[in-house]
Amino acid sequence: MPLPSRFSKNFTGLLHATLAFVLLLSVTTAHAQKDPALYGQGEKVFKGNCAACHKPDKDMTGPALKGAKARWEGKGDIYAWIKNSTAYLGTGNAYANALFTQWAKSPMTANAVTDAEIDAVLHYVDNYAPPAPAQGGPVTTAPEPESSTAWQWLLILGLLFLVVVLSLGGVKHQLGNAVREVEGKQPEADLGFWGNLGRWAGNNKGWASVLGLLLVVFMVLQAWDWAFNIGVYGGDTVEHYKPTQPIKFNHTLHAGKADKNNLQINCVYCHSSAEKSKHAGIPSANVCMNCHQAVNEGRSPEGTAEIQKIYAHTGWDGKAYTGTPDAIEWVKVHNLPDHVAFSHATHVSVGKIECQKCHGPIDEKMDVAEQWAPLTMGWCIQCHNETEVQMAGNGYYDEIHRRLKETPMGNKELREYLEDEKITVKELGGWECAKCHY
Ligand code: HEC
Ligand code: HEC
Ligand code: HEC
Ligand code: HEC
Ligand code: HEC
Ligand code: HEC
Repeated sequence: MPLPSRFSKNFTGLLHATLAFVLLLSVTTAHAQKDPALYGQGEKVFKGNCAACHKPDKDMTGPALKGAKARWEGKGDIYAWIKNSTAYLGTGNAYANALFTQWAKSPMTANAVTDAEIDAVLHYVDNYAPPAPAQGGPVTTAPEPESSTAWQWLLILGLLFLVVVLSLGGVKHQLGNAVREVEGKQPEADLGFWGNLGRWAGNNKGWASVLGLLLVVFMVLQAWDWAFNIGVYGGDTVEHYKPTQPIKFNHTLHAGKADKNNLQINCVYCHSSAEKSKHAGIPSANVCMNCHQAVNEGRSPEGTAEIQKIYAHTGWDGKAYTGTPDAIEWVKVHNLPDHVAFSHATHVSVGKIECQKCHGPIDEKMDVAEQWAPLTMGWCIQCHNETEVQMAGNGYYDEIHRRLKETPMGNKELREYLEDEKITVKELGGWECAKCHY
């Protein structure tokens, strides 16, 4: 009787296919097993010893530590490295020395940590999840990751349902064939997994389309999540990255307009290239000295001491430049990766977007300059999707308008856009990969 073996073969095939699929799903979201106690301990050690130079998921003075353990696997002794990297470099380890060169030969200090503490830190960074963005933050529209987990469960349930239905179908088919054999008829060919799936879908169009729809929605959500989270490094970390500067320069005091005690200096007085080039630029100390040759007192003794630092950098002795000047080394607040092309001139002069739209209330609320927008790909493309390009009085678009009207063969899509008198940045190509990526 061939039934049992044929049946079990068929059934295992189905089960394998389904398991593979469920596995594939979980790969996209799986995290290594997280141990809350170890995580907490690791977080403490990390904050106390490593956070000055490292972030779990973003490069800072040192590399992002997420995945470091895996990167060292088979290449070197990560414990020895962390305890004393300089000594470890002396062993000639190739990976460590390459890393050291890549990080511009800035050495990592020796760390008085035990192996157990290192295990905890590595567990913490590998499982690090950025805290949810604060309510009312600049960008909060990215879907919660939880929503996609719900979809995953629905989908998995749907698949289990499918397995049951299909295996029942398979049993029915086997039984049918057994009967046919007994009756001396030719057995029906086995259609295999996809064949069975197709036959089932054909017979159950309603269910098939519901499942199909679920699958599509799930995939779209995954893609959307992915796009929005590229470059999200955590709400309290990079989004409000606020490094200590060599001189406590205060934007509120210099550029604030709401409070009349503030100086209301125009942004472009200091960031003079924002309107005409890629970079907004940081002013040189000479720009400060335009005023501070005369203004040598701040609003407090501390402020006055900070102004003295400008003098030290410019060699000003109160009457003349007698000392040797050296540049003020401001710490960069914003850091887009090298593969992204961003131009201030395009946004400020052509797009007519206010600085504050991207930099937040730097002149009203930030005594210390900080990164206000997430600078993720999702942030860029969301604005490109929402923002209409400024047509009025913009020579470039007047020209587009003119050409589109004159040439009957003009780009059909563009003409359709023009008919509703609304053109978003996206419609003009602001979602094209090559516009932003080299
Ligand atoms: C003073 C800054 C500083 C401190 C503090 C520091 N590191 Fe580092 N770390 C670096 C730098 C810089 C590098 C890159 C290699 C180099 O230049 O030596 C690095 C590299 C590493 C690497 C290798 C990463 C890779 O991609 O392979 C690990 C792991 C590491 N650090 C772990 C730690 C741990 C754990 C702590 C805290 C116990 C710590 N570091 C504290 C600066 C620091
Ligand atoms: C008197 C000169 C001056 C004025 C006016 C001024 N800034 Fe600045 N700005 C600076 C200096 C100096 C720095 C570098 C130090 C720092 O980050 O605080 C800076 C830094 C910044 C940064 C962070 C740059 C980075 O490193 O990524 C932004 C953003 C910025 N300014 C925006 C503005 C905007 C918007 C205005 C107008 C509302 C403005 N600034 C007005 C002098 C000025
Ligand atoms: C559409 C968003 C947007 C607008 C509008 C905008 N910026 Fe920026 N700004 C950015 C981004 C993104 C960066 C980071 C660029 C990088 O790292 O290459 C940045 C960086 C800077 C910096 C750091 C130095 C530099 O040039 O990279 C300064 C200073 C600055 N902006 C000032 C301004 C000022 C002043 C205005 C208004 C005149 C302005 N920005 C308008 C998005 C914007
Ligand atoms: C257009 C004139 C002007 C320019 C340009 C200017 N400042 Fe000032 N700054 C002032 C004035 C005025 C005060 C004192 C405000 C007061 O006492 O009310 C001041 C105060 C300060 C203080 C003391 C703040 C405090 O809390 O007391 C510092 C520090 C300072 N400026 C740094 C700079 C630096 C750095 C630059 C160049 C990037 C710069 N300023 C450019 C006008 C200017
Ligand atoms: C606040 C809204 C806003 C944000 C945020 C924004 N952009 Fe834009 N972007 C615009 C507008 C508006 C234009 C169209 C300017 C024009 O041509 O009129 C534009 C145009 C561009 C263009 C030229 C597109 C073309 O068709 O030639 C590039 C490239 C670009 N942006 C890159 C970026 C990148 C990279 C980021 C994120 C780091 C970003 N933008 C963030 C509003 C924004
Ligand atoms: C409007 C500008 C913009 C457009 C259009 C855009 N990107 Fe991006 N993309 C960015 C920015 C900004 C980042 C960096 C985010 C970060 O790392 O902080 C980025 C990052 C990425 C990364 C991650 C790289 C890394 O360092 O991990 C990939 C991959 C990527 N983009 C692919 C694409 C593809 C594919 C397209 C076209 C479908 C596209 N991008 C279109 C702005 C854009």
